Amino acid sequence: MTAEAEPSADTASPAASAEGAVAHADAASDFPSIELSGIVQEYPTPDGKTLRVLDGVDLTLDRPGITMLLGPSGCGKSTLLRMMGGVRPTGVQTPTKGTVRIGGKPCDGPHEDAVMVFQRYANRPDLSIHENVALPFRFSMWKKRVPRSEVKTRVRDILAAVGLGDKHDLRPAQLSGGQNQRVALARALVLRPRILLMDEPFGALDAQTREEMQLLLGKLLVENPCVVVFVTHDVSEALVLGDRVLVLSASPAKIVDDIALDEPRPRSTAWLMSSAIVDVKDRVLERLHESRTHGQVRLSF
Ligand SMILES: Nc1ncnc2c1ncn2[C@@H]1O[C@H](COP(=O)(O)OP(=O)(O)OP(=O)(O)O)[C@@H](O)[C@H]1O
Ligand SMILES: [Mg+2]
Repeated sequence: MTAEAEPSADTASPAASAEGAVAHADAASDFPSIELSGIVQEYPTPDGKTLRVLDGVDLTLDRPGITMLLGPSGCGKSTLLRMMGGVRPTGVQTPTKGTVRIGGKPCDGPHEDAVMVFQRYANRPDLSIHENVALPFRFSMWKKRVPRSEVKTRVRDILAAVGLGDKHDLRPAQLSGGQNQRVALARALVLRPRILLMDEPFGALDAQTREEMQLLLGKLLVENPCVVVFVTHDVSEALVLGDRVLVLSASPAKIVDDIALDEPRPRSTAWLMSSAIVDVKDRVLERLHESRTHGQVRLSF
């Protein structure tokens, strides 16, 4: 998995066998589980103290689908998300206590199956849209996993799927913010990840573009199912997209709610406005307000 600091972009992931990489997306039963048990995370503070951010998180994700992660700002969502991909900040033991297992094995570094998408889409201004999407394949780990002959087809197909089939030769500066976020999504999905970790990916978009991206993501995941964890501050977004909605309390955070939503996507306005779902929304808002979120929650209906 890539760190933001890589020269490139916001996605990548370490090496695996070439066969595994190409074949795994087709095998519906072959999704790695993510198991967090007894997770405690503490960070050192500048005044020499310790800040406990996560306080006993137990969680298993063992099937493809979208798990939405909500919680007050600063409660530890990004910390938890990075942990699910095996990413560790330098100089900090992660997790402080507890275990992270991916695909049944203890995870002690960036995991080969996990790809991240951030709110800051980090497209390279000096490269064309095609080159931006193909960028992970410049890294040796992806060079090994995907034959060169396949890269061009994959990039062409994913750019068509995100509605940018006619933008291959443009530069990021020639695209809108929403189109740039599509490029970032394409750069993640072109890798056909089995685990997709999304940190407020649509948080900077206007309401209409966000809605378009939510629809697009739902559609793309039908074609490329994977284990998705999606951090948001938007309760409505969680209800539009989530197969499962997890709510974290304020820091030191625990999971304070875990809601399953089995309605297929795309979800109709009638379903979203039904009394059962309005009740779910109220319940999530209540949990968040119990955590004293001070206006961090957003609703977009
Ligand atoms: N590497 C680090 N070293 C020290 N403190 C850190 C580090 N990473 C995160 N923190 C602290 O941990 C807390 C949780 O951070 P995190 O980014 O996980 O929260 P978040 O829920 O994603 O917040 P937001 O909703 O604002 O994105 C914050 O107080 C943050 O300052
Ligand atoms: Mg965050």
